[in-house]
Amino acid sequence: MAEMDLFADERAADLAEADKLRREIRHNEYLYYVLDAPEITDAEYDRMMVRLRELEARYPDSIPADSPTQRVGGRASSQFTEVRHLEPLLSLGNVFSAEELRAFDERVRSGLPAGSKVEYVMEPKIDGLACSLIYENGKLVRAATRGDGVVGENVTANVRTIRSIPLTLKVPEGEAVPELLDVRGEVYMPRQAFMRLNEQRAERGESEFANPRNAAAGSLRQLDPQVTASRSLSFFAYYLVGEGAQPKHSESLALLARYGFKVSENYKVVENIDEAIKYIGDFNELRQGLSYDTDGAVIKVNDVYQQRILGATGKDPRWATAYKYPPEQAETTLED
Ligand code: IVH
Repeated sequence: MAEMDLFADERAADLAEADKLRREIRHNEYLYYVLDAPEITDAEYDRMMVRLRELEARYPDSIPADSPTQRVGGRASSQFTEVRHLEPLLSLGNVFSAEELRAFDERVRSGLPAGSKVEYVMEPKIDGLACSLIYENGKLVRAATRGDGVVGENVTANVRTIRSIPLTLKVPEGEAVPELLDVRGEVYMPRQAFMRLNEQRAERGESEFANPRNAAAGSLRQLDPQVTASRSLSFFAYYLVGEGAQPKHSESLALLARYGFKVSENYKVVENIDEAIKYIGDFNELRQGLSYDTDGAVIKVNDVYQQRILGATGKDPRWATAYKYPPEQAETTLED
């Protein structure tokens, strides 16, 4: 009897330690992968992971699915299954000039009751691939690519390996956990990771990826999650559907950041189309220095009620569009 108690005490102490480690590791992953502001060294992080794995190995029945050790799970599958999106994943129309932006603004205002005040949110257009993440009661349960917008591919096992994506939402204590959340955003590969990957591939005599976008797509569509895990993918959240969506898009972005997602630090709420055009000029300077590729800026009507009035034409919303920068051109000098 006394011996039984001793085991029970030891088990309780181990489980408590494991729980504490999981919280610490999650917090440090958030600092590192989402905020880009680590507070501990890689060696300290590795030590915590080793200890956690050791404790979890003792009690394999008590490992929660959202443990930091459980990101790469399951085995390679032979194909991706199809999933129907809760709401279609829309695409975006394109504009290429200030005139076209003004025309977009005219169309928006003519689609709304006369005299409506229209605020816009300006965001970087991240060059990756769209993904929908479904959270039920705060847990990531499914991730899907866009596919044809209505039906996508189930890439949950691969998306779980992306460490800037929370497996459980960071909901502050005392706050309600949303029952259902559909978080949309872009899976992308940072420039540095892309260059490193191509170097490795060249060394091995494998074909190189043409750009970070292709590398991200190729990495996400791997049948073996182990491969995806080795590819340093990241994710920017830029749209919220479902129960948690806020009346203003900018508020949804702020909420996504609070839930632990990476949200671009370069988004801006503007009061009119002149300010939007100014943002596009300013951001063109800024974007060269970013650690990831952008191919434009996205302009979105901030008020979700106005978004609903405007609706969509085919696959493009009437309340948002993408401004595309001219493709970068390398300058060549003709010597002779
Ligand atoms: S919003 C209805 N915001 O660009 C909302 N899309 O060319 C539709 N993209 O399919 C998407 N950055 O994959 C939105 N800040 C951003 C984006 C963004 C990149 C991608 C997305 C979209 C494609 C359209």
